[in-house]
Amino acid sequence: MSLNDLSKLTASMGFAERNDPFGLFGDWLKDAEKSEPNDPNAMALATADEEGLPNVRMVLLKGFDDRGFVFYTNYESQKGQEILGTMKAALCFHWKSLRRQVRVRGLVEEVTKQEADIYFASRPRDSRIGAWASQQSRPLESRFALETAVALNTAKYAIGEVPRPSYWSGFRIKPLSIEFWHDRPFRLHDRVVFRRKDPSGEWSKARLYP
Ligand SMILES: Cc1cc2nc3c(=O)[nH]c(=O)nc-3n(C[C@H](O)[C@H](O)[C@H](O)COP(=O)(O)O)c2cc1C
Repeated sequence: MSLNDLSKLTASMGFAERNDPFGLFGDWLKDAEKSEPNDPNAMALATADEEGLPNVRMVLLKGFDDRGFVFYTNYESQKGQEILGTMKAALCFHWKSLRRQVRVRGLVEEVTKQEADIYFASRPRDSRIGAWASQQSRPLESRFALETAVALNTAKYAIGEVPRPSYWSGFRIKPLSIEFWHDRPFRLHDRVVFRRKDPSGEWSKARLYP
């Protein structure tokens, strides 16, 4: 390792000095919105089934503030059922263009009906029809069966607004920990984790070995 590399390595990245995890996340998300080719708000969502077997899939972050991280889905889907069984989840963002990762673990709450209605109404009409047509995660006999369900619901809601299905709503992950990771040379990455005992508690901060 040259002196130059060493000084690069020890130079402060700035973020490790921050004490506001939500503010820091917001800044990193804004950076990602500028640099990621698509879906900077994509995040892996981890849940566990009744046996404790983990499950992970991508979802899109649709709301974020000091209360937590919101995404929308079908509550009758596998992820919906797993979350409703535990009210716990974890998230992982990876922004390849920035070589950054954020990990979140926390407790889950349902968003209010009003919040879900507002978001649902903002979606394109065809996506709203799709929410009625898709029995997410359940076996689908054929593509034709899905297209038939779309056609039937398009006809059903031909006039007026498409209402939000009661089974389609949002979850908010209220973090108990948020970890920020930034790539550094020689795999000596920076890791800073914020933790708290409950979602209204005070944050404590620690650096972690990479
Ligand atoms: C980039 C990306 C974003 C996605 N966003 C969502 C989302 O916001 N909500 C959702 O229900 N599914 C989303 N999906 C589909 C899920 O990954 C998954 O296939 C689906 O929700 C069924 O998951 P489950 O059977 O574990 O419930 C997304 C997939 C990708 C690749």
